[in-house]
Amino acid sequence: MENPEQIHQRRIRYRGTHPASFEAKYKEQQPDKYPETIEKVMKKGDTPAGMHRSICVKEILEILQIKPGQTGLDATLGYGGHTIEMLKCLDQKGHLYAIDTDPIELPHTQERLAKLGYDAKILTTQNMNFSDIDQLVAKSGLFDFVLADLGVSSMQIDNPKRGFSYKTDGPLDLRMNPEMGMPASYRLKAMSQAEIEGMLIENADEPHAKEIAKAIILEYQKGNSISTTSQLQKIIVEALKFIPPAIRDEETKKACQRSFQALRIDVNHELDALYTFLEKLPKVLAKGGRIAILSFHSGEDRLVKKAFKYYHKEGIYQEIAMDLIRPSLEEQNSNSRARSAKLRWAIKA
Ligand SMILES: C[S@@+](CC[C@H](N)C(=O)[O-])C[C@H]1O[C@@H](n2cnc3c(N)ncnc32)[C@H](O)[C@@H]1O
Repeated sequence: MENPEQIHQRRIRYRGTHPASFEAKYKEQQPDKYPETIEKVMKKGDTPAGMHRSICVKEILEILQIKPGQTGLDATLGYGGHTIEMLKCLDQKGHLYAIDTDPIELPHTQERLAKLGYDAKILTTQNMNFSDIDQLVAKSGLFDFVLADLGVSSMQIDNPKRGFSYKTDGPLDLRMNPEMGMPASYRLKAMSQAEIEGMLIENADEPHAKEIAKAIILEYQKGNSISTTSQLQKIIVEALKFIPPAIRDEETKKACQRSFQALRIDVNHELDALYTFLEKLPKVLAKGGRIAILSFHSGEDRLVKKAFKYYHKEGIYQEIAMDLIRPSLEEQNSNSRARSAKLRWAIKA
């Protein structure tokens, strides 16, 4: 006789052409095994799950002018894309230090780089915040070149367990280093309405900051918690129902993106870390040392521009970028995450 459990087993529902969850994107996470899947995703201007596409690679290498035998720092290792390109320029001579504050992604990148043959002779990787760059220089010596590619990696955004995105539900966390600080849900609960509004304006120029802050506080007053990414998204959607229907969807989507960005910057103290890094940079660069910084929103770019200008005026940088460098139109079209990228450089006197 047939097993009754088998008879009544429900057929697995077809979920459409796109994988429903991060875990389901198994093909995209095995680029060696499924190159055609990776190619298809990239052709659409998207980034395959578990991968990060490096931005402005050609422009950055032109700025840094890396030569074999030099010592350099990748202050934001991420997936290791820029690191690999810089290592190629060193041609097994010299040394590259590569750091990242994220203890979750770092071991995966370390493994990937080791498989490519980059061992301790040429590469040192370390889990650290770039605001502590002066501690590293004690063992590395001064740097001939430094790169910082700010913000988050695609791997961080795509992993719902880390709470960086509302596209798939997850805990409202948003920490690049979950071993430090407090998750976004705790941070939000600790803020007043005025503080939330200020955070949304300062970190993301959010035009609907007032309405969103009011709706968040109202939710707490009702006795509800905001502990997941979709709970916060729902509150923002509800708060912006007053927007005319013709533009509401687009405007709400942007407000959600900006609000999550603002909260992420707050939770990770991103502007503080960048400020400290910019302040310490002149002391860790060798004479003629070159620095390239890739930022993704106006708050970051303003800080970079101001610091470079200040140290240039002081004679500490001999030359700085006069104009902002943007990714080529071709790159912006082929990688949606490149559209907001802003690149600046400086050279130590
Ligand atoms: C845009 S990704 C870098 C991608 C990388 N350039 C590549 O080609 O794969 C930014 C990385 O910087 C890290 N990061 C952000 N702020 C940091 C900080 N203050 N100190 C160190 N790492 C940081 C993030 O954890 C993330 O992995």
